[in-house]
Amino acid sequence: MFSLAVLSLRLRSSGCHQIRRSVATVVSGNKTSRLVRERLRQQVEDMTGLFSGFRPGLVVLQVGDRDDSNLYISTKLRAAAEIGIEAKHLRLPKTTTQEEVLQNIRSINENQSVHGLIVQLPLDSVNSIDTELITNAVSPEKDVDGLSCINAGKLSRGDLKHCFIPCTPNGCMELIRQTGVSVGGKHAVVVGRSKIVGAPMHDLLLWNNATVTTCHSKTPDLPEQVSRADILVVGVGQAEMVRGEWLKEGGVVIDCGINHIADETKPSGKRVVGDVHYASANQRAGFITPVPGGVGPMTVAMLMENTVQSAQRFLLKNQPKR
Ligand SMILES: NC(=O)c1ccc[n+]([C@@H]2O[C@H](COP(=O)([O-])OP(=O)(O)OC[C@H]3O[C@@H](n4cnc5c(N)ncnc54)[C@H](OP(=O)(O)O)[C@@H]3O)[C@@H](O)[C@H]2O)c1
Ligand SMILES: *[C@@H]1O[C@H](CO)[C@@H](O)[C@H](O)[C@H]1NC(C)=O
Ligand SMILES: *[C@@H]1O[C@H](CO)[C@@H](O)[C@H](O)[C@H]1NC(C)=O
Ligand SMILES: *[C@@H]1O[C@H](CO)[C@@H](O)[C@H](O)[C@H]1NC(C)=O
Repeated sequence: MFSLAVLSLRLRSSGCHQIRRSVATVVSGNKTSRLVRERLRQQVEDMTGLFSGFRPGLVVLQVGDRDDSNLYISTKLRAAAEIGIEAKHLRLPKTTTQEEVLQNIRSINENQSVHGLIVQLPLDSVNSIDTELITNAVSPEKDVDGLSCINAGKLSRGDLKHCFIPCTPNGCMELIRQTGVSVGGKHAVVVGRSKIVGAPMHDLLLWNNATVTTCHSKTPDLPEQVSRADILVVGVGQAEMVRGEWLKEGGVVIDCGINHIADETKPSGKRVVGDVHYASANQRAGFITPVPGGVGPMTVAMLMENTVQSAQRFLLKNQPKR
């Protein structure tokens, strides 16, 4: 169906004489993550049936008591419970030392009933703790956040089958698949190069055979780089920074951003927006993820996926001998 009202509005606002394409298709993380979690629930049920009572185990290690961390952790624990994953929240006090965190990690590494271990970042301790050291102390076989050097190294070399892929970029990839747009041979642009979003996203797109440009705070011509993207993934932490006018017409836009901005019309006085200016971007993109309800729920679903996968690998390695 074609709405004449929308068309005339478009023609006026764009000032162009050609017939413009319609607004972007919304790629729903709410819906896709629900499907993933439902599939995982079934897989866990099968595992439990086959290996009497076996359950995948996940530990979320937290140091301190940050409000945002508490919220993220409760979301993860709820998702795990729904799927049938045995999840445990290990909370260490703010006074915990680096050595104590390491001791806890070592003991969980050796615990056969735990298949996934994540350390909630940032660490909230009164002591100085080397985050990189902590991240790398997690056994690569249980590193379901995919943040250790071993897993990151495998991903950067294209060894995707034998590593854990970080959850946010993995979720972005799943959303890109949902669009039906093939990645091979396309020009992909990633904005941001952090360890949890941008850098692994670059690797994933590269090894899915896209040609990838990665931009960051020192990129001088960001709008121009972005305009070349058939597939654009943004993770910068700057509210609504990427404008619709920058985009290639008909491209795929994946927005990882979670930013709180003031909004007096809301009871809370604020609302959540992405790193992409949605209202202008959806006039130009072919596909776009909303915020909230896009990448956010996919991140949690992918953590569950990695945990179930880790448990499956554990079972394969430890098949009872006949
Ligand atoms: N949906 C989820 O579950 C999820 C998970 C993680 C993060 N996030 C969100 O994703 C966003 C990024 O998170 P992050 O942890 O990757 O952030 P980060 O560690 O702060 O990294 C931001 C990246 O963006 C680059 N950047 C910053 N300002 C820029 C600018 N003006 N132009 C171009 N590049 C710029 C930085 O460049 P330099 O390297 O040069 O400094 C850096 O590489 C945030 O909004 C965060 O809330 C969402
Ligand atoms: C192993 O982990 C499970 C689940 O977190 C816990 O109940 C159990 O006490 C742990 N075992 C040891 C030996 O620490
Ligand atoms: C990428 O290209 C390589 C080399 O042609 C091919 O072997 C591989 O299957 C492709 N990967 C994907 C995910 O399409
Ligand atoms: C996705 O679900 C969240 C939480 O239930 C809700 O706030 C959001 O509006 C939903 N987004 C979309 C696009 O459906």
